[in-house]
Amino acid sequence: MPTTKIFVTRIIHKDALDLLQREAKQHSWEIKVWPHSLPPSPLELRREAQGHQALLTMITDRIDQDLLDRLPELKVIANHAVGVDNIDLKAADKRGIAVGNTPDVLTAATAELGLLLTMALLRNLPAAISKAKTNQWGAWGPLLDLTVQLGGMEPADNPPLFGIYGMGRIGQSLARMLALGLQANVAYTNTHGPLNNLNFPATWLASEELLAKSDVLIVTIPSNPNTKGLFNQDTLKKLKVGAYFVNLARGDLHDEDALYRLLEAEHLAGVALDVTNPEPATLGRNPILSHPRAIITPHIGSATTNARRHMGLLSAQNIINYLKSKQMPHQVKIAL
Ligand code: DGY
Repeated sequence: MPTTKIFVTRIIHKDALDLLQREAKQHSWEIKVWPHSLPPSPLELRREAQGHQALLTMITDRIDQDLLDRLPELKVIANHAVGVDNIDLKAADKRGIAVGNTPDVLTAATAELGLLLTMALLRNLPAAISKAKTNQWGAWGPLLDLTVQLGGMEPADNPPLFGIYGMGRIGQSLARMLALGLQANVAYTNTHGPLNNLNFPATWLASEELLAKSDVLIVTIPSNPNTKGLFNQDTLKKLKVGAYFVNLARGDLHDEDALYRLLEAEHLAGVALDVTNPEPATLGRNPILSHPRAIITPHIGSATTNARRHMGLLSAQNIINYLKSKQMPHQVKIAL
Protein backbone atom coordinates (compact mmCIF):
# COMPACT_ATOMS: atom_id res chain seq x y z
CA MET A 1 0.00 0.00 0.00
CA PRO A 2 1.44 3.46 -0.85
CA THR A 3 2.54 5.58 2.14
CA THR A 4 0.07 8.21 3.35
CA LYS A 5 1.63 11.64 2.97
CA ILE A 6 0.78 14.82 4.89
CA PHE A 7 1.94 18.29 3.84
CA VAL A 8 1.91 21.07 6.45
CA THR A 9 2.17 24.42 4.66
CA ARG A 10 3.79 26.42 7.53
CA ILE A 11 5.67 25.72 10.74
CA ILE A 12 2.91 25.39 13.35
CA HIS A 13 3.03 25.17 17.15
CA LYS A 14 5.52 22.53 18.33
CA ASP A 15 2.90 20.62 20.33
CA ALA A 16 0.76 20.26 17.23
CA LEU A 17 3.66 19.03 15.11
CA ASP A 18 4.66 16.61 17.89
CA LEU A 19 1.12 15.24 17.97
CA LEU A 20 1.13 14.73 14.22
CA GLN A 21 4.60 13.19 14.29
CA ARG A 22 3.73 10.75 17.09
CA GLU A 23 0.75 9.46 15.13
CA ALA A 24 2.73 9.44 11.89
CA LYS A 25 5.37 7.24 13.50
CA GLN A 26 2.77 4.73 14.66
CA HIS A 27 1.03 4.52 11.31
CA SER A 28 4.06 5.03 9.02
CA TRP A 29 2.69 8.25 7.55
CA GLU A 30 5.12 10.72 6.02
CA ILE A 31 5.04 14.38 7.07
CA LYS A 32 6.57 17.25 5.15
CA VAL A 33 6.57 20.78 6.60
CA TRP A 34 7.15 23.94 4.51
CA PRO A 35 10.15 25.31 6.38
CA HIS A 36 10.14 28.96 5.31
CA SER A 37 8.78 32.00 7.13
CA LEU A 38 6.83 33.15 4.06
CA PRO A 39 3.98 31.03 2.68
CA PRO A 40 4.49 28.94 -0.45
CA SER A 41 3.54 30.73 -3.68
CA PRO A 42 0.67 29.12 -5.64
CA LEU A 43 3.24 27.44 -7.86
CA GLU A 44 5.26 26.16 -4.92
CA LEU A 45 2.10 24.93 -3.21
CA ARG A 46 1.10 23.06 -6.34
CA ARG A 47 4.53 21.45 -6.56
CA GLU A 48 4.90 20.60 -2.87
CA ALA A 49 1.37 19.24 -2.41
CA GLN A 50 1.72 16.72 -5.27
CA GLY A 51 1.02 13.15 -4.22
CA HIS A 52 -0.22 14.05 -0.73
CA GLN A 53 -3.41 12.66 0.83
CA ALA A 54 -3.63 15.31 3.56
CA LEU A 55 -2.91 19.03 3.63
CA LEU A 56 -2.70 21.19 6.74
CA THR A 57 -3.27 24.62 5.25
CA MET A 58 -3.35 28.30 6.23
CA ILE A 59 -5.58 31.20 5.22
CA THR A 60 -2.71 32.30 2.98
CA ASP A 61 -3.01 29.14 0.84
CA ARG A 62 -5.45 29.40 -2.03
CA ILE A 63 -7.04 26.01 -2.58
CA ASP A 64 -9.03 26.38 -5.78
CA GLN A 65 -10.41 24.08 -8.44
CA ASP A 66 -7.29 24.30 -10.53
CA LEU A 67 -5.10 23.17 -7.65
CA LEU A 68 -7.51 20.40 -6.63
CA ASP A 69 -7.53 19.09 -10.22
CA ARG A 70 -3.79 18.60 -9.91
CA LEU A 71 -4.02 16.73 -6.60
CA PRO A 72 -6.03 13.58 -7.36
CA GLU A 73 -4.69 11.76 -4.27
CA LEU A 74 -5.94 14.45 -1.86
CA LYS A 75 -8.50 13.23 0.70
CA VAL A 76 -8.49 15.76 3.53
CA ILE A 77 -7.69 19.44 4.07
CA ALA A 78 -7.38 20.75 7.64
CA ASN A 79 -7.41 24.53 7.58
CA HIS A 80 -5.51 26.13 10.48
CA ALA A 81 -8.28 28.76 10.84
CA VAL A 82 -11.95 29.05 11.52
CA GLY A 83 -12.51 30.84 8.19
CA VAL A 84 -12.40 28.61 5.12
CA ASP A 85 -12.81 31.25 2.42
CA ASN A 86 -9.37 30.33 1.03
CA ILE A 87 -10.78 26.95 -0.01
CA ASP A 88 -13.22 26.27 -2.83
CA LEU A 89 -15.55 24.18 -0.68
CA LYS A 90 -17.82 23.10 -3.50
CA ALA A 91 -14.88 21.91 -5.57
CA ALA A 92 -13.52 20.00 -2.56
CA ASP A 93 -16.90 18.43 -1.88
CA LYS A 94 -17.31 17.42 -5.52
CA ARG A 95 -14.04 15.53 -5.30
CA GLY A 96 -14.99 13.87 -2.00
CA ILE A 97 -12.33 15.81 -0.07
CA ALA A 98 -13.17 16.44 3.61
CA VAL A 99 -12.43 19.93 4.97
CA GLY A 100 -11.78 20.71 8.64
CA ASN A 101 -11.43 24.02 10.48
CA THR A 102 -10.69 25.29 14.01
CA PRO A 103 -13.63 27.02 15.69
CA ASP A 104 -14.01 27.43 19.47
CA VAL A 105 -10.32 27.98 20.18
CA LEU A 106 -9.80 31.51 18.88
CA THR A 107 -13.07 33.19 19.82
CA ALA A 108 -11.73 34.90 22.95
CA ALA A 109 -8.49 36.02 21.30
CA THR A 110 -10.31 37.56 18.34
CA ALA A 111 -13.06 39.17 20.41
CA GLU A 112 -10.42 40.64 22.76
CA LEU A 113 -8.63 42.21 19.80
CA GLY A 114 -11.98 43.56 18.61
CA LEU A 115 -12.55 45.21 21.96
CA LEU A 116 -9.02 46.57 21.98
CA LEU A 117 -9.31 48.06 18.48
CA THR A 118 -12.73 49.54 19.25
CA MET A 119 -11.50 51.15 22.45
CA ALA A 120 -8.30 52.41 20.80
CA LEU A 121 -10.35 53.90 17.96
CA LEU A 122 -12.93 55.68 20.09
CA ARG A 123 -10.33 56.97 22.58
CA ASN A 124 -7.97 57.94 19.74
CA LEU A 125 -5.15 56.02 21.36
CA PRO A 126 -2.58 56.19 18.51
CA ALA A 127 -2.71 60.01 18.52
CA ALA A 128 -2.47 60.16 22.32
CA ILE A 129 0.54 57.83 22.39
CA SER A 130 2.22 59.75 19.62
CA LYS A 131 1.56 63.06 21.40
CA ALA A 132 3.30 61.82 24.54
CA LYS A 133 6.19 60.14 22.72
CA THR A 134 6.95 63.10 20.45
CA ASN A 135 7.11 65.68 23.22
CA GLN A 136 3.82 67.30 22.21
CA TRP A 137 2.14 66.83 25.58
CA GLY A 138 2.19 70.50 26.57
CA ALA A 139 -0.18 71.11 29.46
CA TRP A 140 -3.13 69.05 30.62
CA GLY A 141 -6.34 70.86 29.64
CA PRO A 142 -10.01 70.33 30.45
CA LEU A 143 -10.95 70.53 26.78
CA LEU A 144 -7.94 68.77 25.30
CA ASP A 145 -7.75 65.27 23.81
CA LEU A 146 -11.48 64.67 24.21
CA THR A 147 -12.79 61.40 22.79
CA VAL A 148 -15.82 59.08 23.06
CA GLN A 149 -16.73 57.17 26.23
CA LEU A 150 -17.82 53.63 25.38
CA GLY A 151 -20.17 52.86 28.26
CA GLY A 152 -20.34 52.86 32.07
CA MET A 153 -22.88 53.25 34.86
CA GLU A 154 -22.35 57.00 35.33
CA PRO A 155 -24.66 59.55 33.71
CA ALA A 156 -23.83 59.57 30.00
CA ASP A 157 -24.71 62.06 27.30
CA ASN A 158 -25.56 60.20 24.09
CA PRO A 159 -23.75 56.92 24.81
CA PRO A 160 -22.77 55.21 21.54
CA LEU A 161 -24.65 52.26 20.09
CA PHE A 162 -22.41 49.37 19.10
CA GLY A 163 -23.78 47.44 16.14
CA ILE A 164 -22.45 43.92 15.84
CA TYR A 165 -22.83 42.77 12.24
CA GLY A 166 -22.87 38.96 12.56
CA MET A 167 -23.70 37.28 15.84
CA GLY A 168 -21.61 34.12 15.53
CA ARG A 169 -19.15 33.02 18.20
CA ILE A 170 -16.85 36.05 17.90
CA GLY A 171 -19.71 38.55 17.51
CA GLN A 172 -21.42 37.19 20.61
CA SER A 173 -18.25 37.15 22.67
CA LEU A 174 -17.46 40.76 21.79
CA ALA A 175 -21.08 41.84 22.31
CA ARG A 176 -20.99 40.24 25.78
CA MET A 177 -17.75 42.07 26.67
CA LEU A 178 -19.28 45.37 25.58
CA ALA A 179 -22.68 44.85 27.20
CA LEU A 180 -21.57 43.30 30.51
CA GLY A 181 -17.97 44.48 30.84
CA LEU A 182 -18.52 48.07 29.77
CA GLN A 183 -22.29 48.42 30.22
CA ALA A 184 -22.36 49.70 26.66
CA ASN A 185 -25.43 49.75 24.41
CA VAL A 186 -25.34 46.84 21.99
CA ALA A 187 -27.46 45.95 18.98
CA TYR A 188 -26.83 43.22 16.43
CA THR A 189 -28.00 41.70 13.23
CA ASN A 190 -27.64 38.20 11.89
CA THR A 191 -29.22 36.07 9.21
CA HIS A 192 -31.35 33.97 11.58
CA GLY A 193 -33.23 36.77 13.34
CA PRO A 194 -33.25 37.52 17.09
CA LEU A 195 -31.40 35.03 19.31
CA ASN A 196 -33.33 34.00 22.40
CA ASN A 197 -30.46 32.46 24.35
CA LEU A 198 -28.30 35.53 24.92
CA ASN A 199 -27.29 36.05 28.53
CA PHE A 200 -26.61 39.78 28.12
CA PRO A 201 -28.65 42.73 26.90
CA ALA A 202 -28.53 43.31 23.13
CA THR A 203 -31.22 44.41 20.70
CA TRP A 204 -31.74 42.66 17.38
CA LEU A 205 -32.18 45.02 14.40
CA ALA A 206 -32.67 44.28 10.72
CA SER A 207 -29.41 44.95 8.88
CA GLU A 208 -30.55 48.24 7.28
CA GLU A 209 -31.64 49.55 10.66
CA LEU A 210 -28.39 48.46 12.27
CA LEU A 211 -26.44 50.37 9.62
CA ALA A 212 -28.55 53.49 10.12
CA LYS A 213 -28.52 53.44 13.94
CA SER A 214 -25.05 52.24 14.92
CA ASP A 215 -22.43 54.68 16.10
CA VAL A 216 -19.84 51.94 15.82
CA LEU A 217 -20.38 49.13 13.31
CA ILE A 218 -18.31 46.01 14.02
CA VAL A 219 -18.13 43.36 11.29
CA THR A 220 -17.76 39.73 12.37
CA ILE A 221 -19.39 37.79 9.52
CA PRO A 222 -17.53 35.16 7.47
CA SER A 223 -16.56 35.89 3.89
CA ASN A 224 -18.42 33.77 1.35
CA PRO A 225 -19.95 34.40 -2.09
CA ASN A 226 -23.01 36.01 -0.43
CA THR A 227 -21.11 38.42 1.82
CA LYS A 228 -18.04 39.35 -0.27
CA GLY A 229 -18.04 43.10 -1.01
CA LEU A 230 -21.04 43.74 1.25
CA PHE A 231 -19.55 46.90 2.74
CA ASN A 232 -19.24 48.83 -0.50
CA GLN A 233 -19.67 52.58 -0.97
CA ASP A 234 -23.49 52.31 -1.05
CA THR A 235 -23.70 50.28 2.14
CA LEU A 236 -21.10 52.34 3.98
CA LYS A 237 -22.91 55.57 3.10
CA LYS A 238 -25.90 54.28 5.07
CA LEU A 239 -23.83 54.63 8.23
CA LYS A 240 -24.43 57.78 10.28
CA VAL A 241 -22.20 60.76 9.68
CA GLY A 242 -19.58 60.47 12.43
CA ALA A 243 -19.87 56.67 12.73
CA TYR A 244 -16.93 54.32 13.24
CA PHE A 245 -16.31 51.14 11.21
CA VAL A 246 -14.42 48.10 12.54
CA ASN A 247 -13.68 44.91 10.56
CA LEU A 248 -12.39 41.83 12.38
CA ALA A 249 -13.42 39.24 9.82
CA ARG A 250 -12.08 39.40 6.25
CA GLY A 251 -10.76 42.26 4.14
CA ASP A 252 -12.74 41.29 1.05
CA LEU A 253 -15.97 42.19 2.87
CA HIS A 254 -15.18 45.90 2.58
CA ASP A 255 -14.26 48.36 -0.17
CA GLU A 256 -11.12 49.98 1.21
CA ASP A 257 -11.11 52.89 -1.24
CA ALA A 258 -14.68 53.70 -0.20
CA LEU A 259 -13.62 53.61 3.46
CA TYR A 260 -10.77 55.98 2.67
CA ARG A 261 -13.04 58.37 0.77
CA LEU A 262 -15.61 58.38 3.58
CA LEU A 263 -12.87 59.11 6.12
CA GLU A 264 -11.59 61.96 3.98
CA ALA A 265 -15.12 63.36 3.60
CA GLU A 266 -15.52 63.12 7.40
CA HIS A 267 -18.54 60.90 6.93
CA LEU A 268 -16.71 58.28 8.98
CA ALA A 269 -15.01 59.39 12.19
CA GLY A 270 -12.65 56.44 12.26
CA VAL A 271 -11.90 52.99 10.88
CA ALA A 272 -10.17 50.04 12.55
CA LEU A 273 -9.25 47.03 10.44
CA ASP A 274 -7.54 43.82 11.51
CA VAL A 275 -8.07 42.59 7.98
CA THR A 276 -7.35 44.48 4.78
CA ASN A 277 -7.95 44.17 1.08
CA PRO A 278 -5.49 43.06 -0.18
CA GLU A 279 -3.31 41.39 2.45
CA PRO A 280 -0.58 41.93 3.35
CA ALA A 281 -1.32 45.66 3.31
CA THR A 282 1.29 47.98 1.86
CA LEU A 283 1.21 51.76 1.56
CA GLY A 284 1.14 51.52 -2.24
CA ARG A 285 -1.86 49.19 -2.38
CA ASN A 286 -3.71 50.13 0.84
CA PRO A 287 -3.61 53.94 1.16
CA ILE A 288 -5.85 53.70 4.25
CA LEU A 289 -2.75 52.56 6.17
CA SER A 290 -1.52 56.14 6.34
CA HIS A 291 -4.85 57.75 7.22
CA PRO A 292 -4.59 59.43 10.64
CA ARG A 293 -8.03 58.22 11.69
CA ALA A 294 -7.45 54.59 10.67
CA ILE A 295 -5.98 51.91 12.93
CA ILE A 296 -4.74 48.91 10.98
CA THR A 297 -3.33 45.70 12.46
CA PRO A 298 -1.85 42.81 10.42
CA HIS A 299 -4.59 40.15 10.80
CA ILE A 300 -3.68 39.29 14.40
CA GLY A 301 -7.13 38.41 15.79
CA SER A 302 -6.11 34.87 16.70
CA ALA A 303 -2.45 35.70 17.35
CA THR A 304 -2.13 34.60 20.97
CA THR A 305 0.14 31.70 21.84
CA ASN A 306 -2.82 29.92 23.41
CA ALA A 307 -5.12 30.27 20.39
CA ARG A 308 -2.42 29.33 17.88
CA ARG A 309 -1.39 26.27 19.92
CA HIS A 310 -4.98 25.06 20.02
CA MET A 311 -5.54 25.89 16.34
CA GLY A 312 -2.48 23.75 15.57
CA LEU A 313 -3.64 20.88 17.78
CA LEU A 314 -7.15 20.94 16.36
CA SER A 315 -6.03 21.01 12.75
CA ALA A 316 -3.58 18.14 13.45
CA GLN A 317 -6.38 16.19 15.14
CA ASN A 318 -8.68 16.81 12.16
CA ILE A 319 -6.13 15.09 9.91
CA ILE A 320 -5.37 12.28 12.36
CA ASN A 321 -9.02 11.43 12.85
CA TYR A 322 -9.75 11.49 9.16
CA LEU A 323 -6.80 9.21 8.37
CA LYS A 324 -7.88 6.83 11.14
CA SER A 325 -11.44 6.79 9.73
CA LYS A 326 -12.80 8.51 12.84
CA GLN A 327 -15.05 11.55 12.95
CA MET A 328 -13.05 14.77 12.58
CA PRO A 329 -13.43 17.07 15.61
CA HIS A 330 -14.45 19.90 13.26
CA GLN A 331 -15.49 19.04 9.76
CA VAL A 332 -16.91 21.91 7.70
CA LYS A 333 -20.46 21.22 6.56
CA ILE A 334 -20.70 22.22 2.96
CA ALA A 335 -24.02 23.78 2.00
CA LEU A 336 -24.46 23.27 -1.74
C1 DGY B 1 -9.38 32.59 11.11
O1 DGY B 1 -9.17 31.65 11.87
O2 DGY B 1 -10.21 32.54 10.20
C2 DGY B 1 -8.56 33.80 11.30
O3 DGY B 1 -8.90 34.83 10.48
C3 DGY B 1 -7.08 33.47 11.13
O4 DGY B 1 -6.54 33.49 12.35
